[in-house]
Amino acid sequence: MTAPARATTSAGADARSSEELIRAEEPVLAHNYHPLPVVVARAEGTWVEDVEGRRYLDMLAGYSALNFGHRNPVLIEAAHRQLDRLTLTSRAFHNDQLAGFAESLAALTGLDMVLPMNTGAEAVESAVKVARKWAYEVKGVEPGRATIVVAAGNFHGRTTTIVSFSTDESAREGFGPFTPGFRVVPYNDLAALEAAIDETTAAVLIEPVQGEAGVIIPDDGYLAGVRELTRRAGCLFVADEIQSGLGRTGTTLAVEHESVVPDLLLLGKALGGGIVPVSAVVGRRDVLSVLRPGEHGSTFGGNPLAAAVGSAVVGLLETGEYQRRAAELGVVLRDGLAALVGRGVEGFRSRGLWAGVDIDPSIGTGREISQGLMDEGILVKDTHGSTIRLAPPLTITAEELLSALGSLEKVLTRGV
Ligand SMILES: Cc1ncc(COP(=O)(O)O)c(C=O)c1O
Repeated sequence: MTAPARATTSAGADARSSEELIRAEEPVLAHNYHPLPVVVARAEGTWVEDVEGRRYLDMLAGYSALNFGHRNPVLIEAAHRQLDRLTLTSRAFHNDQLAGFAESLAALTGLDMVLPMNTGAEAVESAVKVARKWAYEVKGVEPGRATIVVAAGNFHGRTTTIVSFSTDESAREGFGPFTPGFRVVPYNDLAALEAAIDETTAAVLIEPVQGEAGVIIPDDGYLAGVRELTRRAGCLFVADEIQSGLGRTGTTLAVEHESVVPDLLLLGKALGGGIVPVSAVVGRRDVLSVLRPGEHGSTFGGNPLAAAVGSAVVGLLETGEYQRRAAELGVVLRDGLAALVGRGVEGFRSRGLWAGVDIDPSIGTGREISQGLMDEGILVKDTHGSTIRLAPPLTITAEELLSALGSLEKVLTRGV
């Protein structure tokens, strides 16, 4: 069967309306997402525009993949320059972009070595493999017995091994059998963590802030406690900063809020500047050195286009401007949300330009609130129940942020 001919605009866009495009997806796209009914056709900075030219303020930023805004000019230029020279070599050969990317990322994070991958889930998978190998080769764990301790409410991606230690039944149901070797403890509970660690423990893998769970921020001292426990027990601390990292919380990394340096750091999302998928395991040399040629890899990991964009992302972060903006505007966000508590907002958690907002369920579900905000020209995403997540590009202005908060107030007052 051949696909029907598609009318396109002079710019190459599909000429169908939003409604037609949404309908066209139904029979041909797997239904693993339930997007809001908006079809984005172009974007710039903090704003996106749909097929009909309606503009929306993006308060989700691609789950933090767009920390530097849509089509950030510095990143777009880096991508264009690289597209015109070299896009892919595979790691069978060296390319002239990778050394600089790894040097700058290691320097930015204060760690030694970089294992480049593509998606966040791949970085997590890679860290699981590295931690297990380290446990057998360096720590001396009996072959096949290594364990990794994780936290309830975690979100680390969607592969079979990763959903094996998810506590979200909808992420697991129907996908077994699962990968063994993981122990789940409550998040933000150092005593439970200590009890779960034993001589088989290769690593503790946690998110410094649990994003998908609703921007759950642990108590002060938790991350430092995890660092201390893992150091004492002789196991690795793996921090998944795929969503919390790269400026979002007001510092380059969320672990910096407690001056903690993990053994392995997982980055993704914003590392690709919203242009290409780029992820990485960044870590101590003595840990990442357990990988030898042929034992792990990826055709696209470390490709020159990814490395050029990743280097440009690191360059933006080196200025400190984005971290500063997130910290300063984070206060505006927090104060604005605090003013809504008791007026439709039951509670919220925020750090930098990132907030999980629990809406009074009598007003609507998170989905209904998101839809109500969409009608006001604001794009957000619900997480669980009546919780919505706010994570605008770090390029947002105070005026735009206040206007989004005003729209939230309007939707909460009006109802959905
Ligand atoms: C903390 C964390 N880890 C890993 C992932 C998986 O990243 P990806 O969707 O790129 O595989 C996500 C995605 O939301 C995440 O938030």
